[in-house]
Amino acid sequence: MTPLPKVSTLLALILPITAIKNPILPGWNPDPSILHLNNEYYLTTSSFEYFPGLPIYKSTDLTNWTLHSHALTRPSQLALYGTPTGGGKTTPHPSPTHNTNPDPKNKGTWAPTLSYINNTFYIATMTRWTYDPVAKVWPRITWISSPDLETWSDPIWAEPWGIDPSLFQDPVSGDVYLNLMAPDSKETGIWGIYQCQVDLGTGKCIDEYRSLWNGTMLHDVSARPEGPKMFVRGEWYYLLIAEGILPFPISLKYV
Ligand SMILES: *[C@@H]1O[C@H](CO)[C@@H](O)[C@H](O)[C@H]1NC(C)=O
Ligand SMILES: *[C@@H]1O[C@H](CO)[C@@H](O)[C@H](O)[C@H]1NC(C)=O
Ligand SMILES: *[C@@H]1O[C@H](CO)[C@@H](O)[C@H](O)[C@H]1NC(C)=O
Repeated sequence: MTPLPKVSTLLALILPITAIKNPILPGWNPDPSILHLNNEYYLTTSSFEYFPGLPIYKSTDLTNWTLHSHALTRPSQLALYGTPTGGGKTTPHPSPTHNTNPDPKNKGTWAPTLSYINNTFYIATMTRWTYDPVAKVWPRITWISSPDLETWSDPIWAEPWGIDPSLFQDPVSGDVYLNLMAPDSKETGIWGIYQCQVDLGTGKCIDEYRSLWNGTMLHDVSARPEGPKMFVRGEWYYLLIAEGILPFPISLKYV
């Protein structure tokens, strides 16, 4: 009797096994946001104070990425004149958990999220010239749109202030929501995850601006529930966030 071949031998015969070389995107590409559309993947990353901003990469296999374009190519989209570079002097942070952070960048534009809404690409992102703990200048949220990932509009400025924005289109109603991380007020500055339905053309909230979730950790000035992304799977809406800011391990949670 012929011995049965090992399972791994069978798999090697039927699956084209290819090694993936990490990092898939070498260099400085933080905060990737990936969009899957028509058998292609598109990815954008933070670019902070560098120009052109928001590189866009394309891939068909999630392994081989090629630089396709940059979304921010004109000063009218993001004026960076005078923006300090990340290696500048350390700014003390009001939160005790941040005192060990030696290099708070948080300037320029970062934390972009790609979306595809009504045959148009959108990138929601955030920008701040610099951080000032006295003035408490909160970052502003903007989005830009493109029919082809090459020609991008000037920004629409969102009404809510905050960071880590993502645009989510409800597949049932077609309505578009802005999810973001924002402080509860200028005085208390306790961060949580917020949402409102937005008008993509004006940036204004067109329904109630509501608190969605404050995460699972201590809800005080140290709270950092971050990076809200919304998905629909079956009959459920999922909110995915990151929580537990550096230098502590970041954990991903969803409700
Ligand atoms: C990546 O793309 C290059 C050029 O198109 C090709 O030669 C290579 O085989 C691809 N690698 C993988 C892992 O698909
Ligand atoms: C999407 O397109 C439909 C049909 O033209 C329109 O009714 C709807 O308002 C659009 N939605 C958004 C968010 O632009
Ligand atoms: C989150 O905390 C804020 C105060 O910082 C509070 O107003 C809000 O109701 C809380 N949200 C939820 C969903 O519990």
